[in-house]
Amino acid sequence: MSSINRQFVLASRPAGFPQESNFNLIETPIPALKEGEFLVREHYLSLDPYMRGRMNDAKSYAAPVQIGEVMTGGAVGEVLESNHPDFKPGDFATGQFGWQEFAVTDGKGVRKVDPNLAPISTAVGVLGMPGLTAYFGLLDVCDPKPGETVLVSGAAGAVGTLVGQIAKIKGCRTIGIAGVDDKVKYLTEDLGFDAAFNYKTDTNYFARLRELCPNGIDCYFDNVGGEITDAALRLLNLHARVSICGQISQYNLEKPELGPRLLGLLIVTRSKIQGFLVSDYAPRFSEGLQQMAEWIKSGKLKYHENIVEGFENMPRAFIGMLRGENTGKQLVKAV
Ligand SMILES: NC(=O)c1ccc[n+]([C@@H]2O[C@H](COP(=O)([O-])OP(=O)(O)OC[C@H]3O[C@@H](n4cnc5c(N)ncnc54)[C@H](OP(=O)(O)O)[C@@H]3O)[C@@H](O)[C@H]2O)c1
Repeated sequence: MSSINRQFVLASRPAGFPQESNFNLIETPIPALKEGEFLVREHYLSLDPYMRGRMNDAKSYAAPVQIGEVMTGGAVGEVLESNHPDFKPGDFATGQFGWQEFAVTDGKGVRKVDPNLAPISTAVGVLGMPGLTAYFGLLDVCDPKPGETVLVSGAAGAVGTLVGQIAKIKGCRTIGIAGVDDKVKYLTEDLGFDAAFNYKTDTNYFARLRELCPNGIDCYFDNVGGEITDAALRLLNLHARVSICGQISQYNLEKPELGPRLLGLLIVTRSKIQGFLVSDYAPRFSEGLQQMAEWIKSGKLKYHENIVEGFENMPRAFIGMLRGENTGKQLVKAV
């Protein structure tokens, strides 16, 4: 085993869209384990939009990564050595291990993964944070009813692909928005969305949504914000529910975008808009994971992983994900 750890640290804070030069690849010795700690070799590293927020020196629900600090991130890997009573060599585990090849952890916030139940990569995808986000963000915040129309923006990504399929499982008419024709095809032909369109080529969002949602929108699961959301809000039905999951169209802007003031529409439709964080549902994670695993097993829920090989490609894969190069969950395979 190597005694050297490769790590990506934050080199500088991006102005606008991140560059590979915002990260530094460094080598450090793997520290000796203290009592209660164990060493994980990271196999699959997750790349997620929230990481863009951690690169800013701004107040948010989590502290920013400091310059020179290892980039934050979830991963799944194998325990190599352990001084911890609950984790032994050969176990697989997932946690917030960071952008590095090896992580030393005391086990707080770390979950064991059974490699016989599903491929271990799913622990950071459909059976991990993005899957739980889709499950609770749709079912708890929007509470969709059979026959209702559910609109999902960012529909072809890790969260969106699952939201649309869960909405179908619940008997809803499901509409997706994505930025590549092949993604649109994937949503309607492979995942069973009733309709979808490409927001980059079909830019009259209101007209397109009015056509695809002739009965209006009952539930809107928002991953992107911006003009797409402005158009969706104009089509909400009476007592509609809007789940604000993410606002990725705004993450790389240097100045906040000013939109139209649409809050008055909520009075007319008596709609509810709610932001949420997946971590709020931690006490119910086992319920969500069990249900998602059952749906996968019964063939009702499909997932797709976009895997880039090689730890050294973390920054490139991260930037690629922000640009929309992924369908489904973006991962880097380090082992
Ligand atoms: N609230 C929570 O607890 C929570 C938890 C997890 C994720 N999230 C949020 O959920 C959203 C989806 O996350 P994810 O992990 O599933 O990522 P993802 O959708 O797998 O990847 C990001 C996707 O965003 C799309 N995108 C990029 N720029 C865009 C723009 N300007 N306008 C519209 N779409 C754009 C791209 O697809 P296209 O090709 O379609 O543009 C890209 O593939 C993000 O906003 C994230 O921050 C929230």
